[in-house]
Amino acid sequence: MARGSCVSLQLLIEWIVLFLFFSEASFASNTEAEALLKWKDSLGNQSILQSWVAPENSSSTTLIPCLWRGITCDNAGNVTQINLPNVGLTGTLQNFIFSSLTNLLRLDLRDNQLTGTIPSSIGVLYKLQYLDLAKNLLYGTLPLSLANLTQAYELDFSRNNITGIIDPRLFPDGSAPNKTGLVSLKNFLLQKTRIGGRIPEEIGNCKFLSLLALDESRFYGPIPSSLGNLSELTVLRLSGNLFSGNIPPNIGTLSKLTDLRLLTNRLSGVVPAELGNLSSLTVLHLAENQFTGHLPQQICQGGKLVNFSAAYNNFSGPIPVSLKNCHTLYRVRLEHNQLSGFLDQDFGVYPNLTYIDLSFNKVRGELSPKWGECKNLTALRVAGNLLGGKIPDEVVLLNQLRVIDLSSNQISGELPAQLGKLSNLLVLKSER
Ligand SMILES: *[C@@H]1O[C@H](CO)[C@@H](O)[C@H](O)[C@H]1NC(C)=O
Ligand SMILES: *[C@@H]1O[C@H](CO)[C@@H](O)[C@H](O)[C@H]1NC(C)=O
Ligand SMILES: *[C@@H]1O[C@H](CO)[C@@H](O)[C@H](O)[C@H]1NC(C)=O
Ligand SMILES: *[C@@H]1O[C@H](CO)[C@@H](O)[C@H](O)[C@H]1NC(C)=O
Ligand SMILES: *[C@@H]1O[C@H](CO)[C@@H](O)[C@H](O)[C@H]1NC(C)=O
Ligand SMILES: *[C@@H]1O[C@H](CO)[C@@H](O)[C@H](O)[C@H]1NC(C)=O
Ligand SMILES: *[C@@H]1O[C@H](CO)[C@@H](O)[C@H](O)[C@H]1NC(C)=O
Ligand SMILES: *[C@@H]1O[C@H](CO)[C@@H](O)[C@H](O)[C@H]1NC(C)=O
Ligand SMILES: *[C@@H]1O[C@H](CO)[C@@H](O)[C@H](O)[C@H]1NC(C)=O
Ligand SMILES: *[C@@H]1O[C@H](CO)[C@@H](O)[C@H](O)[C@H]1NC(C)=O
Ligand SMILES: *[C@@H]1O[C@H](CO)[C@@H](O)[C@H](O)[C@H]1NC(C)=O
Ligand SMILES: *[C@@H]1O[C@H](CO)[C@@H](O)[C@H](O)[C@H]1NC(C)=O
Repeated sequence: MARGSCVSLQLLIEWIVLFLFFSEASFASNTEAEALLKWKDSLGNQSILQSWVAPENSSSTTLIPCLWRGITCDNAGNVTQINLPNVGLTGTLQNFIFSSLTNLLRLDLRDNQLTGTIPSSIGVLYKLQYLDLAKNLLYGTLPLSLANLTQAYELDFSRNNITGIIDPRLFPDGSAPNKTGLVSLKNFLLQKTRIGGRIPEEIGNCKFLSLLALDESRFYGPIPSSLGNLSELTVLRLSGNLFSGNIPPNIGTLSKLTDLRLLTNRLSGVVPAELGNLSSLTVLHLAENQFTGHLPQQICQGGKLVNFSAAYNNFSGPIPVSLKNCHTLYRVRLEHNQLSGFLDQDFGVYPNLTYIDLSFNKVRGELSPKWGECKNLTALRVAGNLLGGKIPDEVVLLNQLRVIDLSSNQISGELPAQLGKLSNLLVLKSER
């Protein structure tokens, strides 16, 4: 008997706990679920969200969205995540009731076909940490209310038709109680958009910024020197814009920088020697600008450089001395400059090097047998230099070689007969 009452008491407690849990959870989730259903109703192809339904015979108090596709809740049953990347959503965000989903920490709608503008009401998601709207058909401008997302560490609006500028007020103003602006921002991506204008200096107040990718948009003006204050910066990608002016020398203080891409802009002047201090650098692209002067001599000081381009500028002076022992090199493009140096002295052995183009510079010397040790070379382009000597037999050791262009030099002698055995070889040029 004592045992029986004990069991029923336990059942009663469990029932009360369950009741409390569900009444609280369903109460809290109600408006969230209804907001989600309202958005679903506005979308084009709703079959993707088949699981987003009210249960049969439901009264609205039992509407719990936590098991719906793409939805994650916290223990209280509040919707904290919407993860629906690449599921073929069509429609807009106009019927997305942000104000009913303020518990959201993560909103990932990447790679769908959403169109229309980004509603200003998105700024009510004050807890949001992660927002990915990349690869959609969104247009209009970035709402200023995004400045409200003080917890956001990742914002990605890449590959949309978004226009306008980056408003300086999106960033913290640098004053002490930094209560507004994107104070927590780590990864900021606006690749392949139609956003342009200048990068506000205020971006330097986003102390935790680690990745800034603005490639192939419409930015112009200088690279802000305040970027030199962002000690956490690891990736800076500004390629394919209209940036002008010099590279701020304090970029050379960013010791964590691994990837710096400035390809295809209108940058000019001398590349600061301070870039040689970037000992973590694995990728450096300076090609297709209007740079002059010497390349930073210590550019591979950290011994990690993998991909390096400086092609199509007006660099003069020596091949960077640190390239000689830069065994990590994979791809090197220095063509169309006025670089001088010696092909047989200034380069080392690079086991991973697949592509090197030194064409149309002022490189002297000859093709030394050492090049035969760069076993992974698929292309060796040295046309239009001041090279002499003969073609060494060791070239035949390059069994991955597909292109060797030695034209417009003063190289004498025959190509090694065995070179014809390289079955992959596609282009072969030399003086007669
Ligand atoms: C809707 O989406 C589903 C699943 O992605 C797909 O199989 C179906 O063809 C789509 N229907 C239309 C009309 O696009
Ligand atoms: C829903 O209600 C209908 C009629 O009101 C009933 O026949 C059906 O069994 C109910 N379904 C569930 C799952 O309760
Ligand atoms: C769930 O959401 C409701 C309404 O927003 C809120 O009152 C409640 O505190 C939330 N619970 C948790 C654990 O966040
Ligand atoms: C910013 O967030 C607060 C809550 O923290 C909210 O009251 C306000 O409406 C939001 N502002 C905008 C522009 O969304
Ligand atoms: C992008 O917007 C421009 C006008 O602002 C329009 O002409 C173009 O068709 C749009 N492209 C896409 C893919 O929506
Ligand atoms: C915000 O301000 C505090 C001092 O008030 C400072 O310690 C902190 O680093 C600031 N954070 C950012 C992201 O600027
Ligand atoms: C870098 O930060 C320091 C100290 O926070 C500040 O005084 C300086 O103005 C900043 N430099 C730039 C270029 O923003
Ligand atoms: C950075 O590079 C410059 C020029 O190459 C050099 O003078 C300076 O000492 C370096 N600074 C650090 C901290 O390594
Ligand atoms: C170097 O370039 C190649 C070819 O473009 C690319 O596949 C590789 O990921 C790059 N390496 C790094 C470290 O970015
Ligand atoms: C490139 O530099 C050379 C001298 O090094 C100079 O004569 C020439 O005018 C420069 N060309 C351009 C396009 O700046
Ligand atoms: C060559 O590439 C491989 C694979 O990417 C890498 O593990 C190895 O460390 C590289 N070697 C050098 C010398 O960089
Ligand atoms: C270089 O070649 C070696 C052997 O041919 C291969 O194991 C290695 O993966 C290659 N490295 C790269 C970076 O392709």
